[in-house]
Amino acid sequence: MKSYHLTLLPGDGIGPEIMDAAIKVLDLVGQQFNVQFDYEEALFGGCSIDRNGVPLTDETIEQCRKSDAVVMGAVGGPIWDTQPHENKPEQGLLKLRASLGLYANLRPATIYNALLDASSLKPTAIKNADIMVVRELTGGIYFGTPRGMDKGKGWNTLSYTKEEVERIARTAFDLAQKRNNHVTSVHKANVLESSQFWREIVEEVHQDYSDVVLDEMYVDNAAMQLVRDPKQFDVILTQNLFGDILSDISAMITGSLGMLPSASLGEEYAVYEPVHGTAPEIAGQNKANPLAMIGSIAMMLDYTFGMPEAATMIYDAIGEVLEMGSRTEDIATPNTNVVSTTEMRDLVLERCEGKSKTIIEMVRMSYEG
Ligand code: IPM
Ligand code: MG
Repeated sequence: MKSYHLTLLPGDGIGPEIMDAAIKVLDLVGQQFNVQFDYEEALFGGCSIDRNGVPLTDETIEQCRKSDAVVMGAVGGPIWDTQPHENKPEQGLLKLRASLGLYANLRPATIYNALLDASSLKPTAIKNADIMVVRELTGGIYFGTPRGMDKGKGWNTLSYTKEEVERIARTAFDLAQKRNNHVTSVHKANVLESSQFWREIVEEVHQDYSDVVLDEMYVDNAAMQLVRDPKQFDVILTQNLFGDILSDISAMITGSLGMLPSASLGEEYAVYEPVHGTAPEIAGQNKANPLAMIGSIAMMLDYTFGMPEAATMIYDAIGEVLEMGSRTEDIATPNTNVVSTTEMRDLVLERCEGKSKTIIEMVRMSYEG
């Protein structure tokens, strides 16, 4: 039996509640597909500050490096806002990304038909939209030096090297080949030299992908186009800060930030986490939407463990639960049935259980030819 070792970083706020859903789904997948997942938890974020004085310890980083993959909840909350800037939970997240070399952040915005009404955009505008934001995650203004602030000014540095742009561009083109062969490179080359450079390198890398259509957009226009006509996009390739902003916009196309999963990938390591934050206002109340977390598990099964059938099973189960009209509060609309975090988790588990027999049979038959 294949066996995989995972580090779990539940974090703060609703993090532990949605992590519980992740584990239950993984346990079921393990049983159905005859794979063993074992888990080791570690403190990360505010809870680590409380215990260890820092949001991310070297031991935790080491533990992540020894794992086959890392699953993360969310970090931060108002009680740690008084920490010095360099010790905030968010800085721990940046340290995790840098330490594990997670340069490629994949944020898919998939529209479930049942949620067409939950978006603030018109159903006709978003129907069939399917966007993958590929965000560069370990460079750009988030990490550039010099940086700092004093009484008279604050400053940051935005720069990209050729190698940094090349590898994220390859990620985007590779993904586009498995999707709809279309990459939109988003930058601000009308103002920023770093973006002119970005544009040139992306065009160079594109030479190796003649089957993929490359177009480009200034970031302000891209923000507008995303809410005007999201169907025009397939893969959006962009730098760290622009990707942070555009992926929140694309999340709202799907109805809720609570729906958006993500994968952060590097050459050696992978971290899977929902895009949303810790939602302190509903933490501990069994109200959080676990679907972004469950979707992140599906991404992990597909990207890290090569189990696309298990991933599809989960996505389909999510779709069916939504079709049945069950909704956590964040995606509830009139005539839908509001459920708790654990109820939503169990509904997805039930749908997976119903499916897995047929799916496993199909996988076995395809192996046997
Ligand atoms: C995200 C978040 C983080 C980011 C914060 C919490 C540091 O907004 O993952 O999108 O800006 O990258
Ligand atoms: Mg963000």
